[in-house]
Amino acid sequence: MVNVAILGFGTVGSGVAELLTQNGSLIERRVDGLVRLKYILDVRDFPDSPYRDCFVKEFSVIERDPEVDIVVETIGGATVALEYTSRALRAGKSVVSSNKELVATHGCQLLKLAREHGCSYLFEASVGGGIPILRPLTSCLAANELSQVTGILNGTTNYILTRMIRAGLTFEQALKEAQDKGYAEKDPTADVDGHDACRKICILAALAFGRQGYPGQVPTQGIRGVTLEDVAYADSAGYKIKLLGRALRQPEGKVCAFVAPHLVPGEDPLAGVEDVFNAIAVTGNAIGDVMFYGRGAGKMPTASAVVADVMDIARDLKRDRRNDWEEGDPGLVVSDDGLSSPWYVRASGSMEQARQAVGELHPLARSGAPGGEVAFLTPVMTRPALLDRLKGMQVRSLFRVLA
Ligand code: NDP
Ligand code: HSE
Repeated sequence: MVNVAILGFGTVGSGVAELLTQNGSLIERRVDGLVRLKYILDVRDFPDSPYRDCFVKEFSVIERDPEVDIVVETIGGATVALEYTSRALRAGKSVVSSNKELVATHGCQLLKLAREHGCSYLFEASVGGGIPILRPLTSCLAANELSQVTGILNGTTNYILTRMIRAGLTFEQALKEAQDKGYAEKDPTADVDGHDACRKICILAALAFGRQGYPGQVPTQGIRGVTLEDVAYADSAGYKIKLLGRALRQPEGKVCAFVAPHLVPGEDPLAGVEDVFNAIAVTGNAIGDVMFYGRGAGKMPTASAVVADVMDIARDLKRDRRNDWEEGDPGLVVSDDGLSSPWYVRASGSMEQARQAVGELHPLARSGAPGGEVAFLTPVMTRPALLDRLKGMQVRSLFRVLA
């Protein structure tokens, strides 16, 4: 029998408890032994919960109990979660986490701690919610030299964009729905301003390229600057606006990583990813392009990934899972300023002015556009070159086109 303790009984933690119960016999059969939920730690009280006998208030109860083999950390953040994760690993207990903030900021050190103490630190749920992506990246694609990872990595923002476009909701209404459905972070600015996607691209880049880049090194832009006007212009030319996290292998072991809204061509599979769904496209030198798709947030999809990690560990508590990476350095992540692409521009001015500035362009139109507003797609160039050319124009929106 393997004993599990859950830290944090919120959206994900309660889903983990439910799934362990609901699919208990299937899990027991597949693991070849009972996976028992022994403790739940939360700051709140749950007197009516069917798990009420499991609740404890002190982490030390879990830490000191030699029967506890696996700790599930679903508290979030990088303060108390870091302390409890470190203490659990030092006590020789494996940890499973959905906490991308912690993995992206302290993953390297926690993986090292797990190795030193003969246990595991797994976090499949930290990227893409229920989508299997981290294990496929390190196992199924292990024979490849990976060159690129591009993803719609945040369910809340994709949900907001979809609801604004499809149902005509305001930003605030769409965000409220995402919060009610349990998709958003405790502080939803992490979703809206791109920090959550940034943490996830850091984890993906670390696993794909072997070294840890930190969120503070990655240029990050969220969806606040995306207007319905931009959506209409994009749509007129067959593009969808999506918040993408991207990581590209660079020479000398460097990585170009960034998060920003992009215009995605309608024929690209990423363009059809809507609602809370996420998708991650990976390019490898043997496989070519491969894509992973599914629910990127929510209680049970995320619990699915957490419980699968628990089962993986439960099958063999001491196996070395080799899911680690090396420390990065301050020069590891390079900005996307050197990356050429076409661009979408919405600006005040005339099309003639725009032509003089950028040369041959693809003009865009939308109904109801006020006089003096222009929107267009540029030829392929870098952002510094484009900004230099647009100096005389008042730019309202500027997004990269995924080419
Ligand atoms: P919630 O806020 O719903 O759950 C966290 C729980 O932990 C709450 O019950 C919270 O109580 C409790 N808690 C806070 N501090 C402590 C503490 N010191 N000791 C014990 N319990 C504490 O968050 P989620 O379940 O949504 O997310 C958990 C983690 O999973 C986060 O890292 C998140 O980014 C990640 N994640 C979330 C997904 C989702 O769809 N929601 C999907 C994938 C990952 P209180 O509410 O009183 O603070
Ligand atoms: N807030 C996150 C999202 C949860 O919306 O994608 C899943 O990581």
